[in-house]
Amino acid sequence: MPSSTILTGQVLTFARSPFAGDPAGAAQLHEAVHISDGHIAGLGTLDTLRKTAPQAKVIHHPDALITAGFVDAHMHYPQTAIIASWGKRLIDWLNTYTFPEEMRFADPAYAAEIADRYMELALANGTTTMASYCTIHPASVTAFFEAAEARGMRALAGKTCMDRNAPEGLLDTAQSAYDDSRALLQTWHGRGRLDYIITPRFSPTSTPEQLDALGSLWAEHPDCLMQTHLSEQLDEIAWVRSLYPQARDYLDTYEAHGLLGARGLYGHAIHLEPREIDRLREAGGALVHCPTSNTFIGSGLFDMAARKADGLRVGLATDTGGGSSFSMLRTMAAAYEIGQLSGTALHPAQLLWLATAGSAETLYLGDKIGNLAPGMEADLVVLDLTSTPAIAQRHARADDIWEAVFPTIMMGDDRAIREVWVHGSRIATSPRS
Ligand code: GUN
Ligand code: ZN
Repeated sequence: MPSSTILTGQVLTFARSPFAGDPAGAAQLHEAVHISDGHIAGLGTLDTLRKTAPQAKVIHHPDALITAGFVDAHMHYPQTAIIASWGKRLIDWLNTYTFPEEMRFADPAYAAEIADRYMELALANGTTTMASYCTIHPASVTAFFEAAEARGMRALAGKTCMDRNAPEGLLDTAQSAYDDSRALLQTWHGRGRLDYIITPRFSPTSTPEQLDALGSLWAEHPDCLMQTHLSEQLDEIAWVRSLYPQARDYLDTYEAHGLLGARGLYGHAIHLEPREIDRLREAGGALVHCPTSNTFIGSGLFDMAARKADGLRVGLATDTGGGSSFSMLRTMAAAYEIGQLSGTALHPAQLLWLATAGSAETLYLGDKIGNLAPGMEADLVVLDLTSTPAIAQRHARADDIWEAVFPTIMMGDDRAIREVWVHGSRIATSPRS
């Protein structure tokens, strides 16, 4: 593949957040995008781009939508093989399916196999960056980063820390969680396109001493992200209350141990108290909406419109394997449906922004990925807007770009992913490509 390529189609970029004012007005469409040396070199008409890069190879995608690659802001790669496991709610689901599977990651070869499998599934679905939980095993982190690095991907992950309420084989300690996380951080954070995330799983599986230790590590590395879970299910919240009787609420279990901050990512965050919302806004922490997981595990309805009106930062994520899909298209569809159940029809521009620029901003990567602008890294996806007969016949009735793209958001899957570009190179994703 030449290092200078022009793609033509309907190239979608965002000038601002579609939650700030008219959603459609936030987006711009261009005829072509020029990719050079791994970065976006320009946007515009084919004629103008050709003048600046006469040697560039031109690839035409007449009816396709070309966007930044999808950014999955919260997922668990070790749960790849247990996605769609039946019949349990959060705590039983963790004990029945998740913890036994995560025990298998004591074997580095198994971790490497699943990391490769997961990366292929993510890329086939147009996801070019993800923030992943690993398991308690340091080798599971190595496996993830090696799989991402081999593909040139921008990716983030951390060792999941747990020192209570999990099987013996899945427990670390406050000290080993600190030591292992620190060593992994020093190896991987900022290496190429990779970043380390400090990762206490959630308050029920950490002692206050472990939360303290990870809070200290974060204070020593303030440029790192920190990810955890918050207020996902009512039973979980009651359990947290009994484990932390001093805490004012669930968020306070993190706040009291140095784990509330602007670079904090709080997954799910469905059932928040007014104080928690105020503190998250003041601290600048980001919520991560995991809609297919919230319906699949029966957690509840995240109120996107209310949280955006509260002034909170929000990203979008699959949460595989609690989530039921690897696809950010299916995730956007679920976000739309949950929005409807909460009284707000999210605009297609808002859904696409959440899956790209919005999630990238929660990861503090909004200047590098999640949008297409000169100088940004060239992670792109080419979406076929007529990928199935059902989608094609609805697309044929579309009067504007949003009607043209919405059937793919609601009904599309990996069949809609025509091409994926990572750091300026087109990658093979499946036999179809
Ligand atoms: N809360 C703590 N761990 C997990 C997990 O692995 N998945 C989900 N959905 N929620 C969690
Ligand atoms: Zn999760």
